[in-house]
Amino acid sequence: MRAIICPKYGPPEVLQLKEVEKPTPKDDEVLIKIFATAVTASDIFIRSFQIPIRFRIPARIMLGLTKPKKSIIGLVLAGEIESVGKNVTRFKSGDQVYGLTGYGFGAYAEYKCMKVTDSIHGCLGLKPTNLTYEEATVAAYGGLLAFQFMEKANIQPGQNVLIYGASGTTGTIAIQYAKYLGAKVTGVCSGSNMVLVKSLGADTLIDYTKEDTLQPGIQYDFILDAVGKMKTSKLKEACKKALAPGGKYVSIDDANLLLDSKRLALIKELIEARHIRPVIDRCYPLEEIVAAHSYVEKGHKRGGVVITVV
Ligand SMILES: NC(=O)c1ccc[n+]([C@@H]2O[C@H](COP(=O)([O-])OP(=O)(O)OC[C@H]3O[C@@H](n4cnc5c(N)ncnc54)[C@H](OP(=O)(O)O)[C@@H]3O)[C@@H](O)[C@H]2O)c1
Repeated sequence: MRAIICPKYGPPEVLQLKEVEKPTPKDDEVLIKIFATAVTASDIFIRSFQIPIRFRIPARIMLGLTKPKKSIIGLVLAGEIESVGKNVTRFKSGDQVYGLTGYGFGAYAEYKCMKVTDSIHGCLGLKPTNLTYEEATVAAYGGLLAFQFMEKANIQPGQNVLIYGASGTTGTIAIQYAKYLGAKVTGVCSGSNMVLVKSLGADTLIDYTKEDTLQPGIQYDFILDAVGKMKTSKLKEACKKALAPGGKYVSIDDANLLLDSKRLALIKELIEARHIRPVIDRCYPLEEIVAAHSYVEKGHKRGGVVITVV
């Protein structure tokens, strides 16, 4: 099968397209024929190892000392179950699935074997029927992140919600989920992304490149930082001051992403009911993975960047 190998940490050019052996599922695994994967913020961290100093030692232990332990990287997949191990009852051949591979990695390939129970090595669910495989990869990654961090807030109808990074993979889903929950939503993005964020349902837009995002007298019941680089910044403290009594501030970097198939099922339900739609920025073929990584590394993607595998 064709796969993208990451033989060492480094720039996008370290990635190589290779022919490798097709895996065979164990009794408790499924074999997935992957039709689409994605280049996410997480893939950039893993390929480049540009990780904040305080996380470097634990990250090297988890990911690999001098090179990734798993040479085929890639965290997100959407595809079809080709065969199932004899102990698997949750899925059958032909099921269309989407999910994350977690520390199992291996999504930058034509095939991947996965266990069907949630763990740090992945979670799988049935793909929303009204999405392409490419769209499903954006729904899996952005959806799991947005839902996990927004569930903490218990958003109620009529509440004021502010979302930083409204144009990103997570932010585009967070805006729509907050609207679905009945909130009045303010999206923070750059000027060129305002039309997109408005089209997703944001009631108010703030261009962070031109205006103060927090204005005197305006209070929020929930603030989500979906950019994730402001954890220790002054903005975090300012956000806390802009909270209404009982309000909550959450950064997308406050906790590890949970790989949860129940959440994948909820995301599927809301997508099929057309409350949420994933946004694709660019789509590349597998052989152009270097270009895809170079683009995502710039940090300005709008929605998700996806890879068509077949
Ligand atoms: N907790 C976990 O386990 C976990 C796992 C994965 C990822 N993450 C975090 O999730 C973050 C988001 O990932 P993602 O893929 O959803 O992001 P993304 O798609 O890269 O989105 C970032 C978006 O935010 C915009 N932006 C940049 N600076 C901004 C600012 N100051 N205010 C408002 N918008 C801004 C960017 O567009 P412009 O630059 O054009 O404005 C871009 O559209 C990652 O950076 C990572 O920190 C956490």
